[in-house]
Amino acid sequence: MTDPAARAAEAFEERFGRAPEGVWAAPGRLNVIGEHTDYNGGFVLPIALPHTTRAAVARRDDGRLVLRSLQHPDDDADVAVAELTPGTPTGWAGYVAGVVHELAGHVPGGLDVLVDGDVPAGAGLSSSAALECAVALALRDLLGLDLAPGDLVDVARRAENDFVGAPTGILDQSASVLCEAGAALFLDTRDRSAEQVPFDLAAAGLALLVVDSGTVHDHAESGYGDRRRECEQAAARLGVDLLREVDDVAALDVLADGTPEGELLRRRARHVVTEDARVLRVVATLRSGEDPRAIGPLLTEGHASLRDDFEVSVPLLDACVEAALEAGAHGARMVGGGFGGSALALVDADAVDAVTAAVTERFAREGAPAPRSFVAVPSAGARRLA
Ligand code: GLA
Repeated sequence: MTDPAARAAEAFEERFGRAPEGVWAAPGRLNVIGEHTDYNGGFVLPIALPHTTRAAVARRDDGRLVLRSLQHPDDDADVAVAELTPGTPTGWAGYVAGVVHELAGHVPGGLDVLVDGDVPAGAGLSSSAALECAVALALRDLLGLDLAPGDLVDVARRAENDFVGAPTGILDQSASVLCEAGAALFLDTRDRSAEQVPFDLAAAGLALLVVDSGTVHDHAESGYGDRRRECEQAAARLGVDLLREVDDVAALDVLADGTPEGELLRRRARHVVTEDARVLRVVATLRSGEDPRAIGPLLTEGHASLRDDFEVSVPLLDACVEAALEAGAHGARMVGGGFGGSALALVDADAVDAVTAAVTERFAREGAPAPRSFVAVPSAGARRLA
């Protein structure tokens, strides 16, 4: 395979007729555990994927932002930086434009940006955060901006929330910027304190298998917003700012006031409270140097909680998790926001092929196209390539 930096630089030169000033890369992420906790001030534990989005960038002086993506060759964008307004352009270009909009006060002229990448899109693996973070890092370097890693996370997250209009938490951008190779990022999303937890699965004869179900439901976005609102309502009824402040599930009983709504809020809150506890237990296990297989059942519990209490799974992901477990996975769960996307399975390294075959066979039985799958190795966060 051609060197990714050289490939992006060459494509840039072909499109813009000159060399880029640099090439930056940022990874997609896989959350090991801690789903739908970030906007509740809770804990997350993502790794960065080896898959990255690359941005080759050069400044121009006419105030235009000209964008091209090798993954969307028929969808170039050319807009004036001064006229950027949230919501346009849409599609992939919106993530780049959102970051430029955030930093527009510092972009004196314009920019040419060529994007290339291999983070699977629509798979719940944060290809959008990878794009935002690669561009944010490029602008920091090119414009000499004084932005700490946490500031880059904020810029990228605001692009997603305020420009693109997706009401996400801080998980994806934090993972893309802050993760380090060989480690999982234990992040407290309330005070933003972070710790790199060594996560050397290969040394333990293990692998993290990722299965992209290839489906995303239409209501993924509305469903995500609904869950956020339900969590806010539950917190308000409990008299706390964030569900993170509740650490005892018994305290949630007051939500069940005999109405279906109260019962629903109790289940939503129970997912968040038990998920935070699972993150802490997984981190404690990894820190203790114990066999990492011990985290398997916690991953599977997390799936059941997302499926039954939080109701963001879909039958195909449930089937995938079930098939992986039947084929010998130590634990398995859906990952990301849900309503489609990917699942992960913790498997013995020498069982990757057997588990993949079992899952593929199960997809066929469910009448679904064969899923894409790969082994995720904890990789480096956003960086300059050239
Ligand atoms: C999406 C969001 C994240 C997080 C996850 C669920 O990936 O972008 O902020 O809420 O869903 O854990």
